[in-house]
Amino acid sequence: MLREVTATRYITPLREGGSLPGLVEADDLGTYVVKFTGSAQGRKALVAEVIVGELARALGLRFPELVLVHFDPAVAGHEPHQEVQDLLRASAGLNLGMDYLSGARDFTPEVAEAFDVDPLEAGRIIWLDALTVNVDRTTHSSNLMIWPTLGVAPPKLWLIDHGAALVFHHRWDASSPQKAYDFRRHALGGHTPDTRAADAELAPRVTAELLRAITAEVPDAWLADEPGFATPDEVREAYVGYLLARVGASAAWLPTDFPTREQLAGEDAHRAAKTRRGRPDWLKRVPDLHGEPAPEQDWSVHLG
Ligand SMILES: Nc1ncnc2c1ncn2[C@@H]1O[C@H](COP(=O)(O)OP(=O)(O)O)[C@@H](O)[C@H]1O
Ligand SMILES: [Mg+2]
Repeated sequence: MLREVTATRYITPLREGGSLPGLVEADDLGTYVVKFTGSAQGRKALVAEVIVGELARALGLRFPELVLVHFDPAVAGHEPHQEVQDLLRASAGLNLGMDYLSGARDFTPEVAEAFDVDPLEAGRIIWLDALTVNVDRTTHSSNLMIWPTLGVAPPKLWLIDHGAALVFHHRWDASSPQKAYDFRRHALGGHTPDTRAADAELAPRVTAELLRAITAEVPDAWLADEPGFATPDEVREAYVGYLLARVGASAAWLPTDFPTREQLAGEDAHRAAKTRRGRPDWLKRVPDLHGEPAPEQDWSVHLG
Protein backbone atom coordinates (compact mmCIF):
# COMPACT_ATOMS: atom_id res chain seq x y z
CA MET A 1 0.00 0.00 0.00
CA LEU A 2 1.06 3.60 -0.51
CA ARG A 3 2.29 5.13 2.74
CA GLU A 4 0.24 7.97 4.21
CA VAL A 5 1.82 11.15 5.52
CA THR A 6 0.53 14.49 6.75
CA ALA A 7 1.78 17.77 5.28
CA THR A 8 3.43 20.03 7.85
CA ARG A 9 4.71 22.86 5.61
CA TYR A 10 4.01 24.10 2.10
CA ILE A 11 7.34 25.33 0.72
CA THR A 12 6.72 26.60 -2.82
CA PRO A 13 4.82 25.93 -6.05
CA LEU A 14 6.72 24.26 -8.93
CA ARG A 15 5.90 26.11 -12.10
CA GLU A 16 7.74 24.16 -14.82
CA GLY A 17 4.75 22.07 -15.83
CA GLY A 18 1.10 23.02 -15.97
CA SER A 19 -0.54 21.54 -12.90
CA LEU A 20 1.13 23.70 -10.24
CA PRO A 21 2.37 20.93 -7.96
CA GLY A 22 3.76 22.07 -4.62
CA LEU A 23 6.90 21.23 -2.72
CA VAL A 24 5.77 20.07 0.69
CA GLU A 25 7.34 18.83 3.91
CA ALA A 26 5.57 16.10 5.84
CA ASP A 27 5.45 14.65 9.33
CA ASP A 28 7.85 11.83 8.36
CA LEU A 29 10.46 14.58 7.66
CA GLY A 30 10.26 13.75 3.95
CA THR A 31 9.96 16.33 1.17
CA TYR A 32 7.43 15.63 -1.56
CA VAL A 33 6.22 17.05 -4.85
CA VAL A 34 2.48 17.10 -4.25
CA LYS A 35 -0.17 16.93 -6.98
CA PHE A 36 -3.45 18.41 -5.78
CA THR A 37 -6.96 17.07 -6.32
CA GLY A 38 -8.17 20.63 -6.87
CA SER A 39 -5.96 21.26 -9.93
CA ALA A 40 -7.46 21.88 -13.35
CA GLN A 41 -6.25 18.42 -14.43
CA GLY A 42 -8.48 16.96 -11.71
CA ARG A 43 -8.40 13.70 -9.85
CA LYS A 44 -8.08 11.60 -13.01
CA ALA A 45 -4.55 12.94 -13.36
CA LEU A 46 -3.81 11.54 -9.89
CA VAL A 47 -5.32 8.18 -10.82
CA ALA A 48 -3.06 8.06 -13.88
CA GLU A 49 -0.05 9.02 -11.73
CA VAL A 50 -0.65 6.10 -9.39
CA ILE A 51 -1.46 3.44 -11.99
CA VAL A 52 1.25 4.28 -14.53
CA GLY A 53 3.90 5.14 -11.94
CA GLU A 54 3.40 1.94 -9.98
CA LEU A 55 3.34 -0.05 -13.22
CA ALA A 56 6.66 1.55 -14.18
CA ARG A 57 8.11 0.57 -10.82
CA ALA A 58 6.79 -3.00 -11.08
CA LEU A 59 8.48 -3.29 -14.48
CA GLY A 60 11.81 -2.22 -13.03
CA LEU A 61 11.94 1.40 -14.23
CA ARG A 62 13.23 4.12 -11.89
CA PHE A 63 10.36 6.06 -10.34
CA PRO A 64 10.35 7.95 -7.00
CA GLU A 65 8.18 6.68 -4.15
CA LEU A 66 4.55 7.82 -4.13
CA VAL A 67 2.72 8.63 -0.88
CA LEU A 68 -0.81 9.74 -0.02
CA VAL A 69 -0.61 13.18 1.58
CA HIS A 70 -3.18 14.47 4.05
CA PHE A 71 -3.24 18.18 3.36
CA ASP A 72 -4.71 21.00 5.43
CA PRO A 73 -4.50 24.33 3.52
CA ALA A 74 -3.67 26.02 6.84
CA VAL A 75 -0.04 24.82 6.44
CA ALA A 76 0.27 27.19 3.46
CA GLY A 77 -1.10 30.31 5.11
CA HIS A 78 2.01 32.28 4.09
CA GLU A 79 1.73 31.49 0.37
CA PRO A 80 1.30 34.88 -1.34
CA HIS A 81 -0.16 33.90 -4.72
CA GLN A 82 -3.92 33.95 -5.02
CA GLU A 83 -4.10 31.24 -7.70
CA VAL A 84 -2.04 28.93 -5.49
CA GLN A 85 -4.21 29.68 -2.45
CA ASP A 86 -7.33 28.88 -4.51
CA LEU A 87 -5.82 25.57 -5.61
CA LEU A 88 -4.81 24.60 -2.07
CA ARG A 89 -8.17 25.54 -0.59
CA ALA A 90 -9.85 23.31 -3.18
CA SER A 91 -7.55 20.42 -2.21
CA ALA A 92 -8.14 19.87 1.52
CA GLY A 93 -7.91 16.15 2.29
CA LEU A 94 -6.07 13.40 0.44
CA ASN A 95 -3.57 14.34 -2.30
CA LEU A 96 -0.66 12.59 -4.01
CA GLY A 97 3.00 13.10 -3.14
CA MET A 98 6.14 11.99 -4.95
CA ASP A 99 9.48 11.75 -3.20
CA TYR A 100 11.47 14.88 -4.11
CA LEU A 101 14.76 14.10 -5.86
CA SER A 102 16.93 16.85 -4.50
CA GLY A 103 19.11 18.47 -7.18
CA ALA A 104 17.56 16.47 -10.03
CA ARG A 105 17.74 18.04 -13.51
CA ASP A 106 15.02 18.00 -16.11
CA PHE A 107 15.92 15.89 -19.16
CA THR A 108 15.80 18.80 -21.60
CA PRO A 109 16.89 18.55 -25.27
CA GLU A 110 20.28 20.00 -24.19
CA VAL A 111 20.72 17.38 -21.45
CA ALA A 112 19.53 14.67 -23.85
CA GLU A 113 22.30 15.62 -26.34
CA ALA A 114 24.99 14.77 -23.80
CA PHE A 115 23.37 11.90 -21.91
CA ASP A 116 23.72 8.28 -23.03
CA VAL A 117 20.55 6.25 -22.66
CA ASP A 118 20.76 2.47 -23.05
CA PRO A 119 18.63 1.52 -26.12
CA LEU A 120 16.82 -1.16 -24.14
CA GLU A 121 15.99 1.27 -21.33
CA ALA A 122 14.75 3.81 -23.90
CA GLY A 123 12.70 1.01 -25.48
CA ARG A 124 11.17 0.02 -22.15
CA ILE A 125 10.13 3.59 -21.33
CA ILE A 126 8.60 4.17 -24.77
CA TRP A 127 6.85 0.79 -24.53
CA LEU A 128 5.32 1.79 -21.18
CA ASP A 129 4.25 5.16 -22.59
CA ALA A 130 2.68 3.55 -25.67
CA LEU A 131 0.87 0.97 -23.54
CA THR A 132 -0.52 3.62 -21.21
CA VAL A 133 -1.02 6.22 -23.96
CA ASN A 134 1.13 8.77 -22.18
CA VAL A 135 1.02 11.87 -24.35
CA ASP A 136 3.36 13.92 -22.16
CA ARG A 137 6.88 12.57 -22.67
CA THR A 138 7.95 14.67 -25.64
CA THR A 139 11.29 16.29 -26.40
CA HIS A 140 10.12 19.63 -25.00
CA SER A 141 8.16 18.23 -22.04
CA SER A 142 10.05 15.05 -21.23
CA ASN A 143 8.85 14.41 -17.68
CA LEU A 144 12.15 12.62 -17.24
CA MET A 145 14.80 13.70 -14.77
CA ILE A 146 18.40 12.77 -14.25
CA TRP A 147 19.55 12.15 -10.68
CA PRO A 148 21.74 12.19 -8.65
CA THR A 149 23.69 15.17 -9.95
CA LEU A 150 26.23 15.78 -7.19
CA GLY A 151 28.83 13.37 -8.55
CA VAL A 152 28.46 10.81 -5.75
CA ALA A 153 27.14 8.27 -8.26
CA PRO A 154 26.52 8.39 -12.01
CA PRO A 155 23.23 10.14 -12.83
CA LYS A 156 20.41 7.89 -13.99
CA LEU A 157 17.14 8.49 -15.76
CA TRP A 158 14.02 8.77 -13.55
CA LEU A 159 10.40 8.89 -14.67
CA ILE A 160 8.03 11.52 -13.24
CA ASP A 161 4.58 12.92 -14.06
CA HIS A 162 2.19 10.42 -15.60
CA GLY A 163 -0.82 12.70 -15.10
CA ALA A 164 -1.50 12.88 -18.85
CA ALA A 165 -1.40 9.11 -19.41
CA LEU A 166 -4.40 6.79 -19.71
CA VAL A 167 -6.14 9.29 -21.98
CA PHE A 168 -8.80 6.66 -22.68
CA HIS A 169 -10.30 7.30 -19.22
CA HIS A 170 -11.66 10.58 -20.56
CA ARG A 171 -13.82 8.63 -23.05
CA TRP A 172 -14.25 5.06 -21.90
CA ASP A 173 -16.74 4.05 -24.55
CA ALA A 174 -14.99 5.55 -27.58
CA SER A 175 -11.43 4.39 -27.13
CA SER A 176 -10.00 1.30 -28.81
CA PRO A 177 -7.20 -0.65 -27.08
CA GLN A 178 -5.65 -1.07 -30.54
CA LYS A 179 -5.22 2.64 -31.07
CA ALA A 180 -1.83 3.60 -32.47
CA TYR A 181 0.42 5.75 -30.28
CA ASP A 182 1.79 9.00 -31.63
CA PHE A 183 5.45 8.57 -30.72
CA ARG A 184 7.13 10.83 -33.28
CA ARG A 185 8.08 13.51 -30.74
CA HIS A 186 8.94 11.13 -27.90
CA ALA A 187 11.78 12.41 -25.71
CA LEU A 188 13.75 9.18 -26.21
CA GLY A 189 13.04 8.64 -29.92
CA GLY A 190 16.55 9.84 -30.79
CA HIS A 191 18.24 7.27 -28.52
CA THR A 192 17.82 4.22 -30.84
CA PRO A 193 15.14 2.67 -28.63
CA ASP A 194 14.77 -1.11 -28.87
CA THR A 195 11.01 -1.31 -28.47
CA ARG A 196 10.75 -4.86 -29.89
CA ALA A 197 13.02 -6.26 -27.18
CA ALA A 198 11.09 -4.26 -24.58
CA ASP A 199 7.79 -5.69 -25.83
CA ALA A 200 9.08 -9.26 -25.67
CA GLU A 201 10.43 -8.69 -22.17
CA LEU A 202 7.66 -6.62 -20.57
CA ALA A 203 4.36 -7.71 -22.15
CA PRO A 204 4.26 -11.10 -20.35
CA ARG A 205 4.82 -9.30 -17.03
CA VAL A 206 1.69 -7.13 -17.28
CA THR A 207 -0.81 -9.63 -15.85
CA ALA A 208 -4.34 -9.21 -14.48
CA GLU A 209 -2.95 -9.96 -11.03
CA LEU A 210 -0.36 -7.18 -11.24
CA LEU A 211 -2.89 -4.67 -12.61
CA ARG A 212 -5.40 -5.54 -9.87
CA ALA A 213 -2.75 -5.00 -7.19
CA ILE A 214 -1.82 -1.63 -8.72
CA THR A 215 -5.37 -0.33 -9.18
CA ALA A 216 -6.10 -1.33 -5.57
CA GLU A 217 -3.61 1.42 -4.54
CA VAL A 218 -5.86 4.15 -5.94
CA PRO A 219 -8.04 5.65 -3.17
CA ASP A 220 -11.79 5.04 -3.60
CA ALA A 221 -12.45 8.77 -3.36
CA TRP A 222 -10.66 9.38 -6.69
CA LEU A 223 -12.73 6.73 -8.47
CA ALA A 224 -16.15 7.43 -6.96
CA ASP A 225 -19.05 8.81 -9.02
CA GLU A 226 -17.47 8.05 -12.38
CA PRO A 227 -20.30 8.26 -14.93
CA GLY A 228 -21.27 4.80 -16.22
CA PHE A 229 -19.82 2.93 -13.22
CA ALA A 230 -21.62 1.86 -10.05
CA THR A 231 -18.61 1.48 -7.72
CA PRO A 232 -14.89 2.33 -7.51
CA ASP A 233 -14.09 -1.37 -8.00
CA GLU A 234 -15.94 -1.35 -11.31
CA VAL A 235 -13.74 1.53 -12.45
CA ARG A 236 -10.64 -0.41 -11.31
CA GLU A 237 -11.76 -3.40 -13.39
CA ALA A 238 -12.18 -1.13 -16.41
CA TYR A 239 -8.54 -0.03 -16.12
CA VAL A 240 -7.44 -3.66 -15.72
CA GLY A 241 -9.52 -4.78 -18.70
CA TYR A 242 -8.39 -1.97 -20.96
CA LEU A 243 -4.70 -2.36 -20.18
CA LEU A 244 -4.85 -6.15 -20.55
CA ALA A 245 -6.55 -5.81 -23.93
CA ARG A 246 -3.97 -3.24 -24.98
CA VAL A 247 -0.99 -5.26 -23.85
CA GLY A 248 -2.31 -8.14 -25.95
CA ALA A 249 -2.59 -5.88 -28.98
CA SER A 250 0.94 -4.49 -28.95
CA ALA A 251 1.40 -5.37 -32.63
CA ALA A 252 -1.15 -2.62 -33.36
CA TRP A 253 0.62 0.14 -31.42
CA LEU A 254 4.27 -0.79 -30.94
CA PRO A 255 6.34 2.22 -32.06
CA THR A 256 9.21 1.11 -34.26
CA ASP A 257 10.25 3.54 -37.01
CA PHE A 258 11.51 6.60 -35.19
CA PRO A 259 12.23 9.74 -37.21
CA THR A 260 15.78 11.06 -36.95
CA ARG A 261 16.44 14.44 -35.37
CA GLU A 262 17.23 15.80 -38.84
CA GLN A 263 13.86 14.63 -40.17
CA LEU A 264 12.03 16.30 -37.27
CA ALA A 265 13.98 19.53 -37.76
CA GLY A 266 13.09 19.41 -41.48
CA GLU A 267 9.39 18.96 -40.66
CA ASP A 268 9.51 21.89 -38.24
CA ALA A 269 11.12 24.12 -40.86
CA HIS A 270 8.56 23.04 -43.44
CA ARG A 271 5.66 23.77 -41.09
CA ALA A 272 7.06 27.17 -40.12
CA ALA A 273 7.48 28.08 -43.79
CA LYS A 274 3.88 27.02 -44.52
CA THR A 275 2.58 29.12 -41.64
CA ARG A 276 4.54 32.12 -42.90
CA ARG A 277 3.21 31.66 -46.46
CA GLY A 278 -0.37 31.63 -45.18
CA ARG A 279 0.00 34.96 -43.38
CA PRO A 280 -0.80 38.40 -44.73
CA ASP A 281 2.24 40.38 -45.73
CA TRP A 282 2.33 42.67 -42.68
CA LEU A 283 2.18 39.67 -40.32
CA LYS A 284 5.18 37.99 -41.93
CA ARG A 285 7.34 40.56 -40.19
CA VAL A 286 5.85 39.86 -36.73
CA PRO A 287 7.21 36.91 -34.72
CA ASP A 288 4.61 34.17 -34.23
CA LEU A 289 4.01 34.28 -30.50
CA HIS A 290 0.40 33.23 -30.56
CA GLY A 291 0.28 30.58 -33.24
CA GLU A 292 -1.25 27.14 -33.16
CA PRO A 293 0.04 24.82 -30.44
CA ALA A 294 2.95 22.64 -31.54
CA PRO A 295 1.66 19.26 -32.77
CA GLU A 296 3.22 17.59 -29.75
CA GLN A 297 0.96 19.66 -27.49
CA ASP A 298 -2.24 18.99 -29.38
CA TRP A 299 -3.50 16.19 -27.15
CA SER A 300 -6.92 16.01 -28.82
CA VAL A 301 -5.39 13.75 -31.50
CA HIS A 302 -5.01 11.02 -28.88
CA LEU A 303 -8.66 10.91 -27.91
CA GLY A 304 -11.21 8.63 -29.52
N1 LIG B 1 10.15 13.96 -7.74
C1 LIG B 1 10.69 15.09 -8.18
N2 LIG B 1 11.92 15.48 -7.79
C2 LIG B 1 12.47 16.65 -8.22
N3 LIG B 1 11.84 17.51 -9.05
C3 LIG B 1 10.61 17.19 -9.49
C4 LIG B 1 9.97 15.97 -9.09
N4 LIG B 1 8.74 15.91 -9.65
C5 LIG B 1 8.63 17.05 -10.36
N5 LIG B 1 9.73 17.82 -10.29
C6 LIG B 1 9.95 19.12 -10.95
O1 LIG B 1 8.72 19.80 -11.02
C7 LIG B 1 8.33 20.00 -12.37
C8 LIG B 1 6.83 19.85 -12.50
O2 LIG B 1 6.45 18.57 -12.06
P1 LIG B 1 5.50 17.64 -12.92
O3 LIG B 1 5.25 16.40 -12.14
O4 LIG B 1 6.07 17.45 -14.29
O5 LIG B 1 4.16 18.48 -12.96
P2 LIG B 1 3.24 19.12 -14.10
O6 LIG B 1 1.99 18.31 -14.03
O7 LIG B 1 3.04 20.51 -13.67
O8 LIG B 1 3.97 18.99 -15.42
C9 LIG B 1 9.13 18.97 -13.17
O9 LIG B 1 9.35 19.36 -14.50
C10 LIG B 1 10.43 18.93 -12.38
O10 LIG B 1 11.27 20.00 -12.73
MG1 LIG C 1 5.28 17.67 -16.18
